[in-house]
Amino acid sequence: MKGSLLVAAAALGAQHASAQYATAAMMRFQCSQLVIERLDPLVNPGVLGSPHLHQVVGGNSFNATMTPVQYDPSKESTCTTCTFSEDFSNYWTANIYFRARNGSYKRVPQMVNLGLQGKGGVTVYYIPPYDGKTKVTAFKPGFRMLVGDASLRTEKGMQKQICHRCLPNVEQNPFGGAPCTGDDTAAFPSKPCPGGIRSTITFPTCWDGKNVDSPDHKSHVAYPSSGSFETTGPCPASHPVRLPQLMYEVIWDTREFNDPSMWPETGQPLVYSMGDNTGYGQHGDYIFGWKGDALQRALDARCTGDRCSALTTQTAEQATACQKQPAVKEETEGWLDAIPGGVHAGM
Ligand SMILES: *[C@@H]1O[C@H](CO)[C@@H](O)[C@H](O)[C@H]1NC(C)=O
Ligand SMILES: *[C@@H]1O[C@H](CO)[C@@H](O)[C@H](O)[C@H]1NC(C)=O
Repeated sequence: MKGSLLVAAAALGAQHASAQYATAAMMRFQCSQLVIERLDPLVNPGVLGSPHLHQVVGGNSFNATMTPVQYDPSKESTCTTCTFSEDFSNYWTANIYFRARNGSYKRVPQMVNLGLQGKGGVTVYYIPPYDGKTKVTAFKPGFRMLVGDASLRTEKGMQKQICHRCLPNVEQNPFGGAPCTGDDTAAFPSKPCPGGIRSTITFPTCWDGKNVDSPDHKSHVAYPSSGSFETTGPCPASHPVRLPQLMYEVIWDTREFNDPSMWPETGQPLVYSMGDNTGYGQHGDYIFGWKGDALQRALDARCTGDRCSALTTQTAEQATACQKQPAVKEETEGWLDAIPGGVHAGM
């Protein structure tokens, strides 16, 4: 196992000022699979059976109704799948299915990221500015947001810093360069990826300082008005509060599906659970649920990797023992005639 700092630095490395970067203290930790189900308390609150399937990690109080502020995941949860045991937030994304030549679908599993332990899930990053001193303000109770747009099927209109990387090899260090640089694509990779596919989903970093949510779950947050978060670009006057940069990394294990004879003649066979076979609909959802001021303490202490004296941690065994039963009973595994929710490729 490699040191988390090195891996984390390498994960975002190369193309930014590398000296700053090598010392960038970023939290990078495993949140294992909690549940795979058709719930979306952000976009479809109260609905049992959201239009598309998600993979969810974090606190086990994830539910169809999670009313801001009054439903506090850090109080409602009894466990979390994240390494940092004070983090009862929920992090979720769409799932990927493989569509075979005969039209059947099978879910593409996930690998745990390099240097981490657990089961599937998401690698979560909370990144402070690279200068090592600019302060960021932790999310407030009730805070939630969405990045990306599940309905997009073209690159036009996509938010920044959401992409895929085709990994050449599982064994080697696959993290050679900052996310969404080099050969990374907004679309699904067009060829088989021997080491799987890395999705990175990065959230905006400026907050209006007032609203923990907004009707589109986006307009209470914004990107820096000039420059970048990484270079401490200023936040716009409308959204003056500098947040940590939240990023998800998901490693999709495509190895079972890389045989070219399985690929349809019509093109690449991967489909997001909303029926998106372009990849442009990739999106991520977040509901803050850290206990008390734990996240602020971690940011102030410049916690790095997945161990920090300012925070409590749990073992991978404890984290993966945290599970939630799907609220919607349906088959999500094995060969299926349709993606859960009656979804098909090209929708
Ligand atoms: C989710 O909400 C339902 C009621 O809508 C409740 O019965 C169930 O216990 C809740 N599950 C969790 C994990 O809180
Ligand atoms: C469809 O193709 C897959 C992969 O070749 C195969 O495993 C599956 O059994 C097929 N399903 C049907 C219904 O023929």
